[in-house]
Amino acid sequence: MVKPLGFSLEDRHLKRAGLDYWDDVDVRTWDSFAELKRGQSSNTRYFFLTTKSGRAFYNVKFHQEDFLVFGRETKGLPENLLARNIDTCITIPMQKTRSLNLANAVAIVLFEAMRQQR
Ligand SMILES: C[S@@+](CC[C@H](N)C(=O)[O-])C[C@H]1O[C@@H](n2cnc3c(N)ncnc32)[C@H](O)[C@@H]1O
Repeated sequence: MVKPLGFSLEDRHLKRAGLDYWDDVDVRTWDSFAELKRGQSSNTRYFFLTTKSGRAFYNVKFHQEDFLVFGRETKGLPENLLARNIDTCITIPMQKTRSLNLANAVAIVLFEAMRQQR
C-alpha cells in the first residue's frame, strides 16, 4: 500500500473486516510510489489498472515478480502516474458501467495473474 492511505491500518474496524484472514496478509506500506520502486530490481514490471486503457488485462503474460497497481476507491490512480506509464496501463473491459469497485477489480486481475503462474 502506497501512502497516503486515508485510513489507519490499526483501525479495529479494518481488522474486524479482515476477520481471520488478517494474520495471513503480508501488508507492506511505502511512503510513495518512488520509494516502492527504489526497493525493487530495475527490471521489475508495473501494470497500472485503469478504465482509461484499451489493453485488456487477459492479453498480458504476467510474471511472478510483476506489480499490479490499483487506484483508490474514490479517485482511481493519479492521471500523471497513468500518463507516465501509458505503455503498461491495462483494463478490465466493461460495457457502460464506469468502473468496478476496488476489491472486485483486484480479485479479477490477481486471479488471472495467479492462474497464469499455475
Ligand atoms: C472504484 S475504482 C476508481 C474509480 C474512480 N472514480 C476512477 O475514475 O478511476 C478503484 C480502482 O479499481 C480499479 N478498477 C476498477 N474498475 C476497473 C476496470 N474496469 N479496469 C481496470 N481497473 C479497474 C482501478 O485500479 C481503480 O483505480
